[in-house]
Amino acid sequence: MSKYIMEPSRTFGEFLIIPNLTKRDNGSQNVSLKTPLVKFTRGQKPAYELEIPFISAAMQSVSGEKMAHALAAAGGIATIFCSQTVEDHAKMAANIRAAGTLAVHAVNTHDYRDRIPALVNAGAEILCLDSSDGFSEWQSDVIKFVHDNYGDKIKIGAGNVVAADGFRYLADAGADFIKIGIGGGSICITREQKGIGRGQASAVIDVAAARDAYFAEHGIYVPICSDGGIVYDNHVIMALAMGADFVMMGRYFAQFDESPSKKTTIDGKPMKEYWGEGSARARNWQRYGKTGMVFVEGVDSYIPAAGPMTETLDKTIAKIKSTMGNCGSNDLQTFYKTTRLTVISPASHAEGSAHNVSVK
Ligand code: IMP
Repeated sequence: MSKYIMEPSRTFGEFLIIPNLTKRDNGSQNVSLKTPLVKFTRGQKPAYELEIPFISAAMQSVSGEKMAHALAAAGGIATIFCSQTVEDHAKMAANIRAAGTLAVHAVNTHDYRDRIPALVNAGAEILCLDSSDGFSEWQSDVIKFVHDNYGDKIKIGAGNVVAADGFRYLADAGADFIKIGIGGGSICITREQKGIGRGQASAVIDVAAARDAYFAEHGIYVPICSDGGIVYDNHVIMALAMGADFVMMGRYFAQFDESPSKKTTIDGKPMKEYWGEGSARARNWQRYGKTGMVFVEGVDSYIPAAGPMTETLDKTIAKIKSTMGNCGSNDLQTFYKTTRLTVISPASHAEGSAHNVSVK
């Protein structure tokens, strides 16, 4: 008989944070968003850290060279997509490295024996397996390939998972960080197509508990990344409060001038193209071999264009720091360890935005 979890699978929009005491030193100027990117042993410093907990999605329509430079300059990091030939990818990696910029490079479980050496030769230092379901023996094989060939010199993240057992499997396999999320992406139709996935909040809460248990048992802290489904800035805040070390976003970064997608005008409004890696458009490069895939898992879309990244990103960061101040936290670990969250009813959800007024 199948097993049932009768608790509903929840997402970020179903929670609110209850503030703690704000102390005099909790001003935004004292709040740090520094976060580990890769695993570390208790008492040691991680080999790579981020100044802001943001990583852009491994997507053709999100992360090219321009995004890599802009996001690294802002203190985050971009993930260069692997839905391109090994040659093109290696060229991109070399260009990014030549400008003294660090990026994460997506890899897959199909052509890794060619792609990984080419990327490493081009100066890549951090890789990440790109898959909607990473709880697989294939991912373990790729991690082993990296360790056998490069030892600890090259880092590799893995995923995606949505539960504690997937996290533990990839942590035991040696992943340097682990991504969470199946089916929550804005352009994603995986849940509709295949019926797999989990509400993003439930997934993050479960995996964060597994990460903490793993740290307590082994003294190894494996950072976790909440990937997909961020619509509002407060969703980033929820993800961090629930224990995500950083968040991966596609739509958010695709809206900026720095993303590689085309800007266009629809009904007089500036828009950017945004398409999923599982859409027919992204798959044209034949990532899945000659046979291709028989069904798609993503759509091709337009989103409103938001101009250059800095202004919007600064606002998002200001909101995170403000909420952390409300919770008496000057760092993300304290925020995660001390924050109280409450599930909200549909009625309190309606109460939370402007209501019973005519907004001008
Ligand atoms: P967003 O930030 O909500 O737009 O979600 C971006 C995330 O969606 C990516 O980081 C991937 O994990 C996921 N994703 C990207 N392309 C596809 C797709 O075609 N189908 C399903 N998920 C996708």
